[in-house]
Amino acid sequence: MLIQLSNIQRLYRSDEVETTALHEINLGIEAGEFVAIMGPSGCGKSTLLNILGTIDRPSAGQYRFSEHDLTAMNEVALAQFRRENLGYVFQSFNLIDELTIEENIDLALVYRKIPKAERKDRVAAAMDHVGIAHRARHYPSQLSGGQQQRAAIARAIVGKPRLILADEPTGNLDTENGAQVMDMLQRLNDDGATIVMVTHSPSHADLAKRRIDMLDGQVVVSVRNAL
Ligand SMILES: Nc1ncnc2c1ncn2[C@@H]1O[C@H](COP(=O)(O)OP(=O)(O)O)[C@@H](O)[C@H]1O
Ligand SMILES: [Mg+2]
Repeated sequence: MLIQLSNIQRLYRSDEVETTALHEINLGIEAGEFVAIMGPSGCGKSTLLNILGTIDRPSAGQYRFSEHDLTAMNEVALAQFRRENLGYVFQSFNLIDELTIEENIDLALVYRKIPKAERKDRVAAAMDHVGIAHRARHYPSQLSGGQQQRAAIARAIVGKPRLILADEPTGNLDTENGAQVMDMLQRLNDDGATIVMVTHSPSHADLAKRRIDMLDGQVVVSVRNAL
């Protein structure tokens, strides 16, 4: 098992209210899976994805990733773990407006001890992979939404992550660009990346290998898609 979540809980507390965003999540994900997470707004999908991405920490429970116990890791070790193992794709692309597309993608490698020439090759290969190489020197605002999301995917994959986390990656895209992004995620999965994607689109969920339905902070159904 690549990922094992055991009894994961996430509570949010303020002065008056306590919200249980996740109740006792037990979930295993094998290397090479492509999992789609669905469920109504507020059911905990992003919270679960953020915990998988170590952007957020559970209030209780254990998260194991391969040989690592992530719940026991300190922030410095986690930051290194993230750089080496995880790639993120968000609904709103989250590119840095002041950097060109190639600089945005390179930023994912800057904090790793990779020689400059190799970084350049890897950035070029990632841009080629998503068909954005001709926009390398452009700024995000000069690109369409579909192109920005492809650049964001290049940024997510340039570090060759074992796990790609995508929170509604097609949520801001039209049908055609959404289909292109799904096609890219499927190809990355075919090439060996494990993917967990939140989506509101049943047809996009059907392109994954497994679908998980959440309700009120719990996983209620997990089904393998016939592909
Ligand atoms: N930072 C936060 N502070 C307080 N409550 C939060 C916070 N983030 C999320 N929640 C609550 O946790 C629940 C799950 O939210 P979320 O994971 O964003 O749901 P989804 O992505 O499925 O729409 C919701 O009730 C939401 O209001
Ligand atoms: Mg969400």
